This record gives sequence, structure tokens and C-alpha cells, in this order.
Amino acid sequence: MALVNTKEMFAKAYAGGYAVGAFNVNNMEIIQGITEAAAEAKAPVILQVSKGARAYANHTYLVKLVEAAALVYPEIPIALHLDHGPDFETCKSCIDGGFTSVMIDASSKPFEENVEITKKVVDYAHKYGVTVEAELGSLAGVEDEVKVSAEDSSYTRPEEVEEFVTKTGCDSLAIAIGTSHGAYKFTAEQCTRNEKGILVPPPLRFDILEEVAKRLPNFPIVLHGSSSVPQEFVKMINENGGKLPDAVGIPEEQLRKAAELAVCKINIDSDIRLAMTGVVRQFLNEHPDKFDPREYLKPARQSIKDMVSHKIYDVLGCNGHA
Ligand code: G3H
Ligand code: 13P
Ligand code: ZN
Repeated sequence: MALVNTKEMFAKAYAGGYAVGAFNVNNMEIIQGITEAAAEAKAPVILQVSKGARAYANHTYLVKLVEAAALVYPEIPIALHLDHGPDFETCKSCIDGGFTSVMIDASSKPFEENVEITKKVVDYAHKYGVTVEAELGSLAGVEDEVKVSAEDSSYTRPEEVEEFVTKTGCDSLAIAIGTSHGAYKFTAEQCTRNEKGILVPPPLRFDILEEVAKRLPNFPIVLHGSSSVPQEFVKMINENGGKLPDAVGIPEEQLRKAAELAVCKINIDSDIRLAMTGVVRQFLNEHPDKFDPREYLKPARQSIKDMVSHKIYDVLGCNGHA
């Protein structure tokens, strides 16, 4: 199947009470690990590319690698999405260059300016059948070298969403309900500790999600910053020369609950990085004589596949919905 936009994926996800996983891709092994897991689970999947990924791997390499995945797994719908498009020009370049979905992230701008930029992208994208994700409210954490402190982040204001969606015509909306980018989503002060000494983050603001959903019936909501930062990978990294003290993510039960509500797309990047880095560190530590990249990238790719498979079945609930 050729690459698809997110329209039908989200309509089905909304009706079915599940979410589609949106995983960030930067190289071939990441794309292979994710799509192998999605194909085995018969799950729709979104492969997303950030500005940083385009700078790292080159736009054309990423488009061709994702197109290759669609040829290898024609039985599942795959969308190629621009993550955190910073401006109209970047969105246009992706729309013109083979992407089927884009995000315009003008969430740091005042409301009216966000509306104006988003509408410009929507008007252009829709001419080519490309869907558009926009954002209202801002998340804490690090994205594309922009660091937003917890104090500067702001929850989405539900009273703004109808006007925003009506004025822009966007196809989905990312909202801020307490998720955060990166592997350090919360400071130790923001968390409590459980009996094992593991940090427990503050709960997501389901009241905001429910109010947004009430105001936007049948409209797909997106959650960014939704990695769970699995402690097994943090431990693996730390036991093999890494240093990630007190890395903490979003509890998976809360994401599962969000997926059953209006959330149709859940963004995961940090968990891919952790799954890959943990295994590479462990492999090289255990095999100091090895230097063939295929030998350590093979288990790293498998680790990504296993992690994505777990997300599909146990968090997103999108298995069997291809
Ligand atoms: O939200 C940002 C994503 O995790 C992408 O990260 O800008 O380092 O590629 P990146
Ligand atoms: P994480 O850092 O939680 O994986 O979030 C990724 C993301 O939101 C990409 O847009
Ligand atoms: Zn994001």
C-alpha cells in the first residue's frame, strides 16, 4: 500500500477506542524495528521525522527508507509525518517531498499567530491530500534543541480549542496535559518515590483532556512527550557505562487510558533511543573484541521491535486494526 495520510487511521482509532503509535525515525534500523513490529501486529503506524532527523539523515534518505518499508509491508497503513514543523517552509518542503502528514508547531506563538501560520499550512497541505496536526499549549522538555522549562510550559486551555480548530481547519490537535519531551520529564521535586525508590510522576490532567474532547466531538487528539522511559533500559544503560540517574517517563496505564478516550496518536521517541542505546552499550561491553556495526545494530533493532510491539499491544491497543 502506498503511504497514507492520517485521516482514516484517526477516524478508525477514535471509533475503536485505541491510538496509533507515532515513532520518530532517524535511520534504517529504527524504521525496520518499528515496521516489523507493526506488520506482525497488523497495526497502522506513523513514522515521524523531526527537523533534526532531516538534518541528520537527509530528507531523501528518510523518505526512500520509509517508502521501502511500505513496499516491504504493503498490508499495513503507514503514514510519513513531519514532527514539530517549525514554519511554513519546512512543512511545504515535506508536503512537496513525499510526506503524507505534517505537524505545524506554532504553539510558542500567541494564539492569533498560531492560527494564522497553521491555517496557511492547512490550506497548502489539503490541496495535496496531506493532513495537518497543530498544537495548542506547550510541553516541558527538550525538542529540536529548544528547551522548555516546567515553569514555561502551559496546559492547553480547553476554552480555546473550538475556535482554533474552526479557524485553522487542522485535522488533529496536540494538547498539553502534563506530558513532556525527553527522558527527564519531571524533576525529583515534582515526583514522589514508590517503595522501590523509583520516581512516580504527577498524574496527567485527564480533566483537561475530557473537557477538550467534549468541546471537539469526534476530533482526534494527539499526545506528545509520551515515552514511558522503561526502567529496564535505564538500568541497562547505567550498568554498562551510561549515566542517566532518575530518568522518568509517563506511566503506561495513563497512556492506555488516554488511548481509550479521544487520543488517537501517541508520540514515542525517547523510548526508542533508550531501547537502542541500552542494547548497544551492553553488547559492546560484553563483546569488547567486536567492531562490526551489524553485530550490535541487529540486537538494537530487535530491542526496538520488542519495545514497539509491547506498546502496540499493551498501551496503544492498535493491534489488528491495519
Ligand atoms: O519532540 C521531539 C522529538 O523527540 C524529536 O527529537 O528533535 O532530537 O529529533 P529530535
Ligand atoms: P518523548 O520524548 O516522550 O519520546 O516524546 C516524543 C515526541 O513527542 C516527539 O514529537
Ligand atoms: Zn513532540
